[in-house]
Amino acid sequence: MRRILVLFAHPALQKSRVQRELARAVRALPGVTFHDLYEAYPDFDVEVAREQALLTEHEVVVLQFPFYWYSTPALLKQWQDLVLEHGWAYGREGRALHGKLLLCALSTGGSEASYQPGGSNRSTIGALLAPLAQMAHLCGMEYLPPFVVHETYRLDDAALAAHAAEYAALLAALRDERLDLAVARAQARLDTKLPALIG
Ligand SMILES: Cc1cc2nc3c(=O)[nH]c(=O)nc-3n(C[C@H](O)[C@H](O)[C@H](O)COP(=O)(O)O)c2cc1C
Repeated sequence: MRRILVLFAHPALQKSRVQRELARAVRALPGVTFHDLYEAYPDFDVEVAREQALLTEHEVVVLQFPFYWYSTPALLKQWQDLVLEHGWAYGREGRALHGKLLLCALSTGGSEASYQPGGSNRSTIGALLAPLAQMAHLCGMEYLPPFVVHETYRLDDAALAAHAAEYAALLAALRDERLDLAVARAQARLDTKLPALIG
C-alpha cells in the first residue's frame, strides 16, 4: 500500500465550491494524509523540517489546488522554495524524494477547449504545468499526468459530485497500487479514461 500526502492549497476556502468538494471526497480516505497548507501556515511561515518529515513518510505526493494565473496559489510556491532544499530534495546528495510519485490535482475556470494551442489560453494544461513536471524530475520523482476539473464556473452539482468521486477513486487506486502506471504515463490527463486505468 502506498501512503499518500495531499498538499492542499486554496487561499480562500470560504469562497471555494469545487476544491472544497474535491477535498471533502479524499480527506478522510484511509492511507491519505490531507494537509491544508493555508490552514497550517496562514503567515507563509512554512516549517521546513515538518514538511520534509511528512514527505519522507509518504510514497505519493498530490498537489491539490485551484489554477491561479496559470500556476499554483502562492503558498504552494513558497512551500517548494523552502522545503525542496538542495542536498535534500535535489543535488548530488539530495535523494530524499527519489522514486516517489507526484500528481497534480487542479481545477480551472477555463474550458478544456480553451487549453489548446488554438484556444484562448493558447497552451495545454500539460505545457503550463511544465515547471512542476521538471521539479519532480529534478527531485527524482515520477510525475504523473494531472487530474483536471475544467470549467468550474459552469459545473452543476451532479457533475461536481462525479468529479469528486472520480478523484477519490484515483487516489484509492494509487494507494492500493491498482492504477496501471504504464498506461497512465501515456495519457495527457488522468481524469479521462480513468476506469480503464484502474484494475
Ligand atoms: C486569482 C485567481 C486566478 C485565477 N486564474 C485562473 C487561470 O489562470 N486559469 C483558469 O482557468 N482559471 C483561473 N481562475 C479560476 C479558478 O481556477 C477557479 O475559480 C477555481 O479552480 C474554482 O475552484 P474553487 O471553487 O475551489 O475556488 C482563477 C481564479 C482566481 C480567483
